[in-house]
Amino acid sequence: MKSFNGRVAAITGAASGMGRALALALAREGCHLALADTNSQGLDETLALIKTSTLSPVKVTTQVLDVADRQAMDDWAERCLVDHGQINLVFNNAGVALSSTVEGVNYADLEWIVGINFWGVVHGTKAFLPYLKACGEGHVINTSSVFGLFAQPGMSGYNATKFAVRGFTESLRQELDMQRCGVSATCVHPGGIRTDICRSSRIDANMTGFLIHSEQQARADFEKLFITGADQAAKVILQGVRKNKRRVLIGRDAYFLDLLARCLPAAYQALVVFASKRMAPKPRRPVFEPNDEPRL
Ligand SMILES: NC(=O)c1ccc[n+]([C@@H]2O[C@H](COP(=O)([O-])OP(=O)(O)OC[C@H]3O[C@@H](n4cnc5c(N)ncnc54)[C@H](O)[C@@H]3O)[C@@H](O)[C@H]2O)c1
Repeated sequence: MKSFNGRVAAITGAASGMGRALALALAREGCHLALADTNSQGLDETLALIKTSTLSPVKVTTQVLDVADRQAMDDWAERCLVDHGQINLVFNNAGVALSSTVEGVNYADLEWIVGINFWGVVHGTKAFLPYLKACGEGHVINTSSVFGLFAQPGMSGYNATKFAVRGFTESLRQELDMQRCGVSATCVHPGGIRTDICRSSRIDANMTGFLIHSEQQARADFEKLFITGADQAAKVILQGVRKNKRRVLIGRDAYFLDLLARCLPAAYQALVVFASKRMAPKPRRPVFEPNDEPRL
């Protein structure tokens, strides 16, 4: 798809971050939009921003939706078709983050992240695919992460969902290529992008003392690693769609970690362990009182 003008795009997670940036960038190119998120206030803000920053009269519809809810996704896709007459692009972008050890993670948090990050992508792909095919020209854009290429301690739930999105999307792309149906698929792997993801992420108490000093400090430290702006990320994603890329990496951090995992596909883990141990809180030394017996 070389131009988005006059096309219709459905975007999940459009109330914030990259979803909002994609909505604004597409609206500026004359693309009509169907936006969804759990956050209705954020959706209204995105809508207001589109109205103030876009000259071309694009049609925008919004829907409060939990992507983990399959029926709600199917209903939304059907409504999008009724409202817009066609759907050309679906951006399965909504996502959340979770930090916890494998041993300490509770099943409710794992089910939460798998429901949104993995099932949300599956629901969006399957609900919209028949409509994209019916247009004869469409694109599925699924958001994984650099952590879909590279694993690290304390992120097993997030890593698992993002590796799964990559596998799912790469398989889908191959099926679509074989079918020559006019529909394609791209998997997006952002590095650290300046968005609200850190604020909405869950950090389990078991991380304190293991990899982080405190939850507050960890959120601040994480945000320092977010080196690319959301607008720039949206630009790179749309460029990737235009070029029909199979994989889109965003940010020099994503390129570096991808290279590391390619050059040292198993050994990179030892490097991550080394670096993580250096950054982890050090166990406290016992404090001795002056009249304690010296230890021999
Ligand atoms: N920011 C980064 O550094 C980064 C890096 C790699 C990948 N990603 C991925 O990019 C995507 C977009 O995240 P972002 O960074 O823009 O974060 P963000 O928090 O700014 O935006 C995510 C949006 O998803 C929405 N959302 C959360 N749960 C939902 C649900 N159940 N149903 C519908 N919407 C829901 C949120 O309300 C929010 O508006 C996510 O999939 C994330 O995992 C982000």
